[in-house]
Amino acid sequence: MPRLTGAGRTRTLLPWRGEKMALMAVGLLPAALYFWYGAQDRLGPDPVNVFERWLGLWAVRFLLAALLVTPLRVVSGISLLRYRRVLGLLAFWYALMHVSVYVALDQQGNLAVLWHDITRRPFLMLGFAAFMLLLPLALTSNDWSIRRLGRRWGRLHRLVYGVAVLVAVHFLLAFKTYNATSVSYAAALMAMVLWRAVSLARTRMGRARA
Ligand code: HEM
Repeated sequence: MPRLTGAGRTRTLLPWRGEKMALMAVGLLPAALYFWYGAQDRLGPDPVNVFERWLGLWAVRFLLAALLVTPLRVVSGISLLRYRRVLGLLAFWYALMHVSVYVALDQQGNLAVLWHDITRRPFLMLGFAAFMLLLPLALTSNDWSIRRLGRRWGRLHRLVYGVAVLVAVHFLLAFKTYNATSVSYAAALMAMVLWRAVSLARTRMGRARA
């Protein structure tokens, strides 16, 4: 990735922190863009729904990007490992904005209506469950938690595969009929889950043989 080699040394284009902050800032641009469109009244007759769906779609895109990091390294040797945490956090920020738009604008913060809607519609229940699982992952995506949790950190973060399954079904069921976009993203998410399950099974078999 963005590495420059000179005089026998390897350095990044930007210092680590700056590079990741730049990725975070660029990653938040789609939200800013649609917020701007909304402020300009350019999101059509149902701007809240368009904004809500846009944020949900970007949450899925970043989730998928974070899940792709390891398979990409194994298959091609390209390592984006140092960006995985930012990608995961971007998925969380988009999911948080998506949920906030639903709570504050779609349902006007009415807790009774919210509860009724979430418990009555299975796709919302699945989205809610996915968000609940995303929370501990986002809260522990920092160096302090990694040090503190040790091996448990890796086990906790395997929850991301549960999030992927829940989000895939949430996405599919958000539409009355199947459409190419939701089916493609759901298939890609499920492929990541399958890939992880297969590599975990292989590792365990290897350990059992040794
Ligand atoms: C409390 C949790 C959640 C709630 C209440 C919620 C709510 C919603 C609602 C109301 C819609 C629009 C459905 C419609 O227009 O009829 C939607 C769609 C969607 N949501 Fe969620 N959601 C939640 C969690 C999530 C999470 C965690 C993700 C991803 C990480 C996500 C991704 C999506 C996607 C991709 C769509 C479809 C977007 C599109 O139309 O392109 N949602 N969700």
